[in-house]
Amino acid sequence: MNAPVTAIQIQNVTRRFDELIAVDDVSLQVQAGTTLGLIGPNGAGKTSLLRMLATLSIPDTGDVLIQGLSVIRQPRLVRRLLGFMPAEFGYPRGLTIHEYLEYFGALYQVPAVELRRRIQDVKELTELTARDNVAVRGLSTGNRQRLLLARTLLHDPQILLLDEPASGLDPRARNELRGIIRTLASLGKTIVVSSHILPDLEEVSDSVAIMEAGRLVTHGSLEQLRHTSGETGIQTRIRVPVEFLEAAAVLLRAHSSVVSCEVRSPEVVVRAEEESGNELLRILISEQIPILEYAREALDLEDIFMQSTAGRVT
Ligand SMILES: Nc1ncnc2c1ncn2[C@@H]1O[C@H](COP(=O)(O)OP(=O)(O)O)[C@@H](O)[C@H]1O
Ligand SMILES: [Mg+2]
Repeated sequence: MNAPVTAIQIQNVTRRFDELIAVDDVSLQVQAGTTLGLIGPNGAGKTSLLRMLATLSIPDTGDVLIQGLSVIRQPRLVRRLLGFMPAEFGYPRGLTIHEYLEYFGALYQVPAVELRRRIQDVKELTELTARDNVAVRGLSTGNRQRLLLARTLLHDPQILLLDEPASGLDPRARNELRGIIRTLASLGKTIVVSSHILPDLEEVSDSVAIMEAGRLVTHGSLEQLRHTSGETGIQTRIRVPVEFLEAAAVLLRAHSSVVSCEVRSPEVVVRAEEESGNELLRILISEQIPILEYAREALDLEDIFMQSTAGRVT
């Protein structure tokens, strides 16, 4: 395998709006061909950070290198490499889908001879099925998001910055969007996608960065985050008859590998070190506590996120 190549290098980036520090000394790297999920509640600084990556706003301190090019010193070169899908969708009134894509193709300076083919490609990639002559303003939210993404892909950028692409979509459209993101990833694109809704990103992200109040709270692969999230990564649910719940909890809490043990009738929910599951069962059995059901599960991203942000999720 080739050594990983850094596609995006965020170096100690800070952005202020008067007194407010929207992005506070963030450093982060994204390897080429991987997808980074940028998660955080509203106001965390996700859009402010993405706009700096997209050269639309300039860091007060620090820099961002996109394939080695500085967003501050070489913004024009950087823009060619990336596609930015903004969260807010403004569009010229009265255009049809085809006119809209032609308009943006011209803005991105896609050569006229290629544009027809590119428009066809991006419509297929985004599964935009509405007809060419349909007015943009009449589109459903789902198709509008597809069109916005299609426009972002017109110049075939290697790096995609998608700001809350799932916002306003129903569950089915969210699911389809995840499929589209996976397709783009399989084409080798480097993708940064933001959301305040965790399940949107869990499936598509190779690594995750969690922001809160401008700061990067944590960053890593899902596996790494599960292991460094304060409480260890495996949760065991043990169901016992209700009259045994408290006794079971007392026994389990006494075990050295148990990080936490809560009674959530009719179960005790134990977080413990990975390899201790069988031992926990043995303890209960040796004290003659009947076990009705037993399940081990990895913590999902939501658990990790809740721990990282101390539950301050909007
Ligand atoms: N142009 C701006 N002027 C003043 N404050 C801003 C501006 N853009 C963002 N902010 C503030 O910066 C903080 C981060 O905002 P934003 O980057 O939009 O967060 P997110 O995208 O995570 O919701 C918020 O407190 C927001 O009000
Ligand atoms: Mg935002």
